[in-house]
Amino acid sequence: MSQQQASDGLSKTWSQRFETALHPAIAQFNASIGFDIELIEYDITGSQAHAKMLAKTGIISPEEGEQLVQGLEQIRQEYQAGQFNPGIDAEDVHFAVERRLTELVGDVGKKLHTARSRNDQVGTDTRLYLRDQIQQIRQGVRGFQTVLLDLATQNVKTLIPGYTHLQRAQPVSLAHHLLAYFEMMDRDWQRLGEIYERVNRSPLGSGALAGTTFPIDRHYTAQLLEFSSVYENSLDGVSDRDFAIEFLCAASLIMVHLSRLSEEVILWASQEFSFVTLKDSCATGSSIMPQKKNPDVPELVRGKTGRVFGHLQALLVLMKGLPLAYNKDLQEDKEALFDAVKTTKVCLEAMTILLREGLEFKTARLQEAVAEDFSNATDVADYLAAKGVPFREAYNLVGKVVKTSLAANKLLKDLTLDQWKELHPAFEEDIYAAIAPEQVVSARNSFGGTGFDQIHRALESAKQRLASS
Ligand code: ARG
Repeated sequence: MSQQQASDGLSKTWSQRFETALHPAIAQFNASIGFDIELIEYDITGSQAHAKMLAKTGIISPEEGEQLVQGLEQIRQEYQAGQFNPGIDAEDVHFAVERRLTELVGDVGKKLHTARSRNDQVGTDTRLYLRDQIQQIRQGVRGFQTVLLDLATQNVKTLIPGYTHLQRAQPVSLAHHLLAYFEMMDRDWQRLGEIYERVNRSPLGSGALAGTTFPIDRHYTAQLLEFSSVYENSLDGVSDRDFAIEFLCAASLIMVHLSRLSEEVILWASQEFSFVTLKDSCATGSSIMPQKKNPDVPELVRGKTGRVFGHLQALLVLMKGLPLAYNKDLQEDKEALFDAVKTTKVCLEAMTILLREGLEFKTARLQEAVAEDFSNATDVADYLAAKGVPFREAYNLVGKVVKTSLAANKLLKDLTLDQWKELHPAFEEDIYAAIAPEQVVSARNSFGGTGFDQIHRALESAKQRLASS
């Protein structure tokens, strides 16, 4: 019998209650097979666990259980070989698999759905899928952190202007800047781990909404599927999508972090900043302006961020008005979830490649940048404050010098010692060393600051965290 031709009993997909077939446009509208085929292997694994449980509890015979498990395995192989391509008439992946199973193993296939509903089935599949994806994304995050750490390790002594309000503030070590992203991504990694615990709960056996009359063993299926617990309440089990929303929050935050770094790379690559050069492998040209080299990778990451936020919003709105328990609205969770997963993965990968081999920091230009501004002004004030001048007084004094220096088109390092002394007798020859960029950075040795001792501590801590996971 062909795959497309339904076997009896499932031919109209639903029960004999229905007299006529669905309107073709409605069948198309109703079907999710076009996208939920993504769940097929999880559906098969979930069904195999269910079949084993049916046999273990005596609801079906051991032979029947074995036939179901084998038949399902065959469908997996067909799918992997590209030979299983159900059409719209299958409606969704769950019906598609059940129908094919019955074609393969005969009437016993019709026993698979005993004590189960598509409602607990789809919830199970989605959790199995997301569990896998979370692990993959966590690995992607770790990969990205590894590149950040490598780059930071190579750039402890590379200084870069630090900004507040996008105005030059104080110079920092480039390593410090990169490690800030390492920390953000570390929280992302942790957050996904915490969410994993709540994704890893089995709704299987909740039935359509109220449980089942059969003596099923939910703990057994949960154990077979390596879920760490089961839903306590069947209504909650079939209608909870908190776990997906939490994931979308976590994915959104990953995207926020990638997008912020993207924005910085885009600025850095501009002629105005000129802090980095994009290598040819990660940049594109313009179709009309021959001189252009565009930062498409970070721009796309920044652009795709909105998609993931949109999916989070979509699921929140999807859920807010749903009465218990299952509603078909829930079928709409999948495309949002799948796209968020794919987008997050591909953006992590692209940014990892960009940072690993697509960027070159222009160190000479950076060195120039940190020396050509007033970002050492705080250090002059700190210098005086360390010599007993009240900080606010010192702050006002330095403000005055900055003003006169700006007017004279000079930098603080250009003042003569006499000029310094005129300003305040506490100034000595060592003021020049105190305001040199490297000293300015090195001196910020408070815990978590940019001082080089702190950077070395931070690098070590980062390394240990990567090694212990
Ligand atoms: N395709 C459906 C979904 O994705 C499966 C569950 C359908 N259940 C139902 N009672 N119609 O949510």
